[in-house]
Amino acid sequence: MRLLVTGGAGFIGANFVHQTVRERPDHQVRVLDALTYAGNRASLDPVADAVDFVHGSIADAELVDRLVADADVVVNFAAESHNDNSLDEPEPFLQTNLVGTYRLLEAVRRHGVRLHHVSTDEVFGDLELDDQARFTEDTPYRPSSPYSSTKAGADLLVRAWVRSFHIAATISNCSNNYGPYQHVEKFIPRQVTNVLNGVKPKVYGTGANVRDWIHVDDHNRALHAVLDRGTLGHTYLIGADGEADNLTVVRAILRALGKPDDWFDFVSDRPGHDLRYAIDASKLRGELDWKPQYADLDSGLAATVQWYADNRAWWEPAKQATEDGYTRLGR
Ligand code: NAD
Ligand code: TYD
Repeated sequence: MRLLVTGGAGFIGANFVHQTVRERPDHQVRVLDALTYAGNRASLDPVADAVDFVHGSIADAELVDRLVADADVVVNFAAESHNDNSLDEPEPFLQTNLVGTYRLLEAVRRHGVRLHHVSTDEVFGDLELDDQARFTEDTPYRPSSPYSSTKAGADLLVRAWVRSFHIAATISNCSNNYGPYQHVEKFIPRQVTNVLNGVKPKVYGTGANVRDWIHVDDHNRALHAVLDRGTLGHTYLIGADGEADNLTVVRAILRALGKPDDWFDFVSDRPGHDLRYAIDASKLRGELDWKPQYADLDSGLAATVQWYADNRAWWEPAKQATEDGYTRLGR
């Protein structure tokens, strides 16, 4: 099996490559990554001997055509992925998330190659805080930010190419991931590395917003389940029943690092900040026999905090520029 993993130097993609090399020795893995600020070659160092790395963009039609022609399956992780950046400068989100996905679709169509498109639950917009409702595969799309709207647009392109051109594709929409190799701009690594640097965590608004956390390895096992047993043309929601509000998560991080549980600052809120995400993963659990190995956020958080404590050299180069960007945004 020749796998082309786009965005494989990013957080989830790199963990996917690690898991694939570890557990699927019969797979040949090639990574295509543009190495934006979010991509890091060092994330692939532990598997460098087993992976063929190509530096380039999914929006480069000629390069994508050549690489897709040489693959059996493409897994698309490549994206601009951070909401705060999308509110500040939307253009790269349109280029990569929309145009890039379009290029991949045209290439898999031409060469008859299977595509799995990795997406987010943020395409559904948000849920009320005081509600039991969860997202399902049938929830209408109602994205809030430039990030989530370009991800929604990309999903719709994939669906259109399935219906009109009969490409062999699947889509998954996953909730918020945490784990090693996540960029320090994101909530959990930002707060963990702040505390490691002696700086208080920064909580947007009131901290009441809820995210549905899943360990990145559980997400990636679900992706392999979809690749192995998923029905072509279908969408699968991925989540691990990990709902927690941001204050709860910050306090868990403070506890893990031996700080008092009120040792954080509230900062100004993100514009359009989605209130709550929650996934009903019954289809994935029932049809594909998947279940998470991490029972809850606490069980994976301690190891993640430890990973950041042990791997300063990986995150330190990006930390100052990231915090300078947040200072500019007042967050
Ligand atoms: P990330 O920002 O850590 O990594 C993105 C990677 O894509 C980087 O290596 C970057 O260099 C690369 N990239 C960006 N533009 C590119 C282009 N034009 N061509 C090739 N490579 C390019 O993101 P992540 O958190 O690993 O997310 C991966 C995917 O999973 C995204 O599609 C995201 O929407 C989706 N997702 C993320 C989460 C989450 O919690 N992080 C949850 C659900 C879905
Ligand atoms: P984030 O990791 O950016 O993921 P997403 O916006 O895709 O859910 O943020 C997760 C939650 O944490 C979200 O409610 C915003 C909040 N947040 C903070 O409170 N402080 C921060 O410094 C960051 C980066 C996020």
